[in-house]
Amino acid sequence: MKILVTGGLGYIGSHTVVELQNQGFEVVIIDNLSNASIEVLDGIEAITGKKPIFEKIDLREKQKVQDFFKKHGDVEGVIHFAASKAVGESVEKPLLYYENNIATLVYLLQELQKKESSSFIFSSSCTVYGQADQLPVSEDAPVKPAESPYGNTKQIGEEIISDVCRVTPQIKSIALRYFNPIGAHPSIEIGELPKGVPQNLVPFITQTGIGLRKQLAVFGADYPTADGTCIRDYIHVVDLAKAHVVALQRSLNDRNEGNFEVFNLGTGKGSSVLEVIQSFERVSGVKLNYEVVERRPGDVIRAYADTKKANEILGWKAETTLDEAIKSAWDWEQKIRN
Ligand code: UFG
Repeated sequence: MKILVTGGLGYIGSHTVVELQNQGFEVVIIDNLSNASIEVLDGIEAITGKKPIFEKIDLREKQKVQDFFKKHGDVEGVIHFAASKAVGESVEKPLLYYENNIATLVYLLQELQKKESSSFIFSSSCTVYGQADQLPVSEDAPVKPAESPYGNTKQIGEEIISDVCRVTPQIKSIALRYFNPIGAHPSIEIGELPKGVPQNLVPFITQTGIGLRKQLAVFGADYPTADGTCIRDYIHVVDLAKAHVVALQRSLNDRNEGNFEVFNLGTGKGSSVLEVIQSFERVSGVKLNYEVVERRPGDVIRAYADTKKANEILGWKAETTLDEAIKSAWDWEQKIRN
C-alpha cells in the first residue's frame, strides 16, 4: 500500500517513514529540502534496508502537487508533516506561515477530494490548547486563541480538515496533537537536525553539552511550579512515529468515528526544564552550563497530555523514558559532531 509522507525527510517525518517501512508500507516522500537534508534518505535506508521513493516538490507549487497525484494515482494515504514550525519566525513572517502551512494543506485536500477514498493524517500541536485550565490536557479541552501565526496555522488547519471531511466522507482524517517530541532513532542513523540556533530545549542542551553553544538560558525559574521552571510532556520521537502508523491503519481500515478525529500524543508525564537538565547530566555524565534568565514571552506554564484516548482507542502508548529519550538525543549529537 502506497503512502505519501510530506516533509518525510524532516525530524518527525523521517522517523515515521522508518516505522511505515518496517510495517511493510511503500512510502513516497515529498520534501522541498528547505529544512531537511537529502542524506536522511541514506539513514532511512540504513535502518530499514529500503530507500523510499523521493520527489523534491514544494507543495506551494499547486501544479506540481496535481502532477504528483496523477503520477502516483495509487497513493491511499497521506501523512502531512511538511510545514514551517518556528514560533518566533511566524510572528515576523505571518504570510510565509499561512502560505507554507495553509495553502499547501488546501492543495493536498483538493487532490484527495478527487479520489474514491483516502486517509489523511495531520501534524497538529498541543499549542492549540494554550494554557489549558485542567491538567492533564484531554482532547475535550477548549482550543484557546493562538499565541502566534504558527499556532494559528495548526488551529486553522484542523478546522479546514474538519470542514472538508464533513462534505467529503471518502476522506478519513486524524489530527495528531503532539506534545514535545525529542530524541533520535536508537540506531542514531537519523535524528533532529535543527538549522542555526536551536529554538527547542533538548537540541539546545545537547549542543551546549558538546560545546557548540556556551550556555543554555533557562527561560524563567519563577513560575508557580515545584522548582519554578515550566513543565512539558517530552515524548520520544520513535514513540510518536509509531502512533502515526497506528492512526493511519485506523483510518485506512475505516474505523474512524465520524471521519475526522483528534488525538493527543504525549507520555502523560510532565517534566520541568530543570528535570530535563538533570536527566541530561545523568545520562551523559556532562555537567551542563546553564543560567536562569527572563521568562520567554508566550510560554505556557504547564502542558502534559491526558493520553487515555490514544491509549484506549489507538491502542498506543509511549514506552520510552525521559532518560532513554535524552540519551538517544545525546548519542545522536555526539555522532553528528564527530
Ligand atoms: N526552554 C529554555 N531554554 C531554551 C529553550 C527552551 O528554558 O533555550 C524552555 C522553554 O521555556 C519551555 C521548555 O524549555 O519551558 C520547552 O521549550 P521548547 O521550545 O523546547 O518547547 P515549547 O513547549 O515551547 O514548544 C513546543 C513546540 C512548538 C509549539 C509550542 C507550543 O516546539 O512547535 O510547543 O507551546 F508551538
